[in-house]
Amino acid sequence: MSQKTTWEEFFDAHAPIYDENVFTKNTAAEVAFLLEELRLPRGGSVLDIGCGTGRHAIELARRGYRVTGLDLSSEMMARAAAAAKAAKVRVEWVRADAARFTLPEPYDGAICLCEGAFGLLGREDDPLEQPLSILRNISRSLKPGARAVLTVLNGTAALRRHQNRDMTEGRFDPLTLVESSAHPPREGLPPIPVRERSFVPTELVLLCRLAGLSVLNLWGGTAGNWGRRPLDLDEMEIMVVAERAVEAPGSHPEG
Ligand SMILES: C[S@@+](CC[C@H](N)C(=O)[O-])C[C@H]1O[C@@H](n2cnc3c(N)ncnc32)[C@H](O)[C@@H]1O
Repeated sequence: MSQKTTWEEFFDAHAPIYDENVFTKNTAAEVAFLLEELRLPRGGSVLDIGCGTGRHAIELARRGYRVTGLDLSSEMMARAAAAAKAAKVRVEWVRADAARFTLPEPYDGAICLCEGAFGLLGREDDPLEQPLSILRNISRSLKPGARAVLTVLNGTAALRRHQNRDMTEGRFDPLTLVESSAHPPREGLPPIPVRERSFVPTELVLLCRLAGLSVLNLWGGTAGNWGRRPLDLDEMEIMVVAERAVEAPGSHPEG
């Protein structure tokens, strides 16, 4: 990776204040929820994609699981590694793009939370291909029958929130559900232009299916308010619980 992608640039600069975000304050309860959904074997292995500062990875390691945290931002990962050391737990850290990685061993479960890569488009990323590549990589990283939990931006909320002028003025593309905006990564720094992609439930089911994952549940997944409840149309995030299909002999997910 030579030139930094927009999100790498953003999170490298945002890293020092990431853990101050209110949505990061519910980690222990989130991990308890994840463990009920992932159904890991005792001491099983978990891949955390877009692990950020490692809050879920470290809490899982504290509870006795073998964890790999993968992220694009070296600054987020540096903080994750320091936090793991302070917590006296071992986590394997891998710096990679979620759309372009391969790891040697399959995992008992995977998580990709708070738009950990999924829905965060780089400058050149195709809005359909990039998320599909991430799902294929998640699928390939799982043992057959193993589960993944993702929280992703909700396309129904994006469609209801935007006006036609957002489309004509280039802030929202209703065809791809891509929102373009610019945010300073922290106070005093210039804004960085970024692209974020939301997803409607039907395409999530289809994209997962193309990647060899069966969707078991789509629930309300807004940070700080996860629940096994039907999706609210205006809810910010959707939670996807999916299972790696047990392949028939000789068959593989496309790609
Ligand atoms: C909003 S943070 C979420 C972090 C963590 N999952 C959490 O719940 O706190 C998004 C993370 O995704 C990472 N990320 C963005 N695009 C990525 C990509 N293509 N591959 C890997 N990581 C990526 C960012 O560096 C950032 O650490």
